Amino acid sequence: MRKCFFAFLSYCLFAISYFATAQQEQSRLIQNVKSRLLLSLNGQWNYIVDPYEMGYYNYRHDPFENSESGKGGFYDDRQQKDKSELIEYNFDLAPTLHVPGDWNSQAEILQFYEGTIWYKRKFNVEPLGNKQYFLYFGAVNYEAHVYLNGKKLGMHKGGFTPFQFEVTNKLKPGDNVVIVKADNKRKDTEVPTINTDWWNYGGITRDVYLVTLPENYIADYKVQLKKNNLNQVEGFVQLSGKSGLQDVTITIPELKIKHTVKTDASNRAQLSIPVKAVSYWTPENPKLYDVIISSVADEVKDRVGFRTIAVNGKDILLNNKSVFLRGISMHDENPLLKGRLRSEGDMRMMLQWAKELNCNFVRLAHYTHNEDMVKLADEMGLMVWAEVPVYWTIAWENPDTYNNAKSQLTTMMERDRNKASVIVWSIGNETPLSEPRHKFMGNMAAQARSLDDTRLVAAALEVHRKDTEVIVDDPLGELIDLASFNEYGGWYWGLPPDLSRYTFKIKYNKPVVITEFGGEALAGYHADAETRWSEEFQEALYVSQLAMLSKVDALRGMTPWILVDFRSPRRQHPYYQDFWNRKGLLSNTGNKKKAFFILKDYYEKIEKQYK
Ligand code: GCU
Repeated sequence: MRKCFFAFLSYCLFAISYFATAQQEQSRLIQNVKSRLLLSLNGQWNYIVDPYEMGYYNYRHDPFENSESGKGGFYDDRQQKDKSELIEYNFDLAPTLHVPGDWNSQAEILQFYEGTIWYKRKFNVEPLGNKQYFLYFGAVNYEAHVYLNGKKLGMHKGGFTPFQFEVTNKLKPGDNVVIVKADNKRKDTEVPTINTDWWNYGGITRDVYLVTLPENYIADYKVQLKKNNLNQVEGFVQLSGKSGLQDVTITIPELKIKHTVKTDASNRAQLSIPVKAVSYWTPENPKLYDVIISSVADEVKDRVGFRTIAVNGKDILLNNKSVFLRGISMHDENPLLKGRLRSEGDMRMMLQWAKELNCNFVRLAHYTHNEDMVKLADEMGLMVWAEVPVYWTIAWENPDTYNNAKSQLTTMMERDRNKASVIVWSIGNETPLSEPRHKFMGNMAAQARSLDDTRLVAAALEVHRKDTEVIVDDPLGELIDLASFNEYGGWYWGLPPDLSRYTFKIKYNKPVVITEFGGEALAGYHADAETRWSEEFQEALYVSQLAMLSKVDALRGMTPWILVDFRSPRRQHPYYQDFWNRKGLLSNTGNKKKAFFILKDYYEKIEKQYK
């Protein structure tokens, strides 16, 4: 009895330290990684489909990593040396997948695949003694176990946020091999949870880099206007570990700013820089300034816009001027590829469509989108609603689930803290009311506010109806800056003509932003306005919904659902849907539906009103 108790105790201690170490291996996110010295590992990676995780567990379903030698898994990348040797896998003879890219759109057989796929990539490097090296992943959906030269670097959960591992002392001169176990299996304790209305694209979906940095490098920085202050830049510069007290300088040539401050004992320098004659960032004038952050051993260049965003009663103020958020929602998906957006071209296509709709705002739903997408929004002049996938029925009482959601929120906010386009941090979508949910979401709101007081915090609140009265009194509304909610009258309940009788009872004296409304239409299917799925029905629906919503006097924005048809495993009507959610204003082939022009015209009127 005593013997097995101690065996059990030592096992628990091992399990805790194992997860702690695996998570800990991830180093602090490198700010603006794309402006660093990079070796791109994008391209063709060999892959092995492993539905039974043969490469990770032995036949007793114990992880090979836990074995005495820690060996035995596919991460060993064993090569047959002797003709009698038994090795039941071989990466080099295996087919390849393109990285970045989901696997579902790259092989017909993988379209519906949910499980583990192993990736291998060889790369050549001559590591220099006075440099630090990091292996950086833009995103891997969902759980990634990463190995370098057969050694475990660590594990990351969350399919939409970047992570990296320091590999300085783990690189070899010459050929190195990185192996990734990517598993997109859905679980009810994860974030997102089991049920979503988007395709569960798996794989290494964003860029992979080997990042080379000086020994003492600029790890992170924030250079943004102070909350509600158009004449003060506030922020910090964080240097890496062993940098010691030193000067860091912020240079903004166009504003004739060259500001030097000393770091403190924690290698951090606080910034407080008076600025004047600034051309403030707006969608009409998306002015970005060259900003150079330099320290003794490092220099980082960035392009930063300066703007303030705030709420005042029912108004949203951009640079102290009331603004209407003429928005549209979108997924991180290229309909033409039936896959995740892979390149800047893909992303520009999506944002250009939004511009053609006369938008000045986009809701990047329901998870953190590619950093390049947000950079493009900075450049093209589109304000951004950025969201974490706390979506529908999350496991509210599970502490791991909360820590996961919190870390996704934190990473998203750290990654995009210098993006002028990002005006709203969204902590979730349509999360059902309960005490554990209120606690969870309350903590998420507090976390967001503790990390950034210069942007708005919001969520798509729960609403309920009494006949044709829409009631918005979700307690979470107290904690966020907007009365933001989804409204599907005319599609999921009632019909377009009913909407003229709808009224709204909104508890909060806050700007109202309708984060979703709309309905489906199969592009090219024409009938009368009463015939569901036809373009005419969707057109009439938009006319009625816009008329209904315009009666809300605090209406200050909207992001109709959705810019373009998108893939969803929940949409099975064989003729009208065929695994597409057809609420797009553009079809999956990029054709504009009739409703596209209804919204475009509406936004032209609004734009004139807010001139
Ligand atoms: C929901 C949800 C979306 C979904 C949409 C729909 O409100 O937030 O993710 O796609 O409605 O039903 O089309």
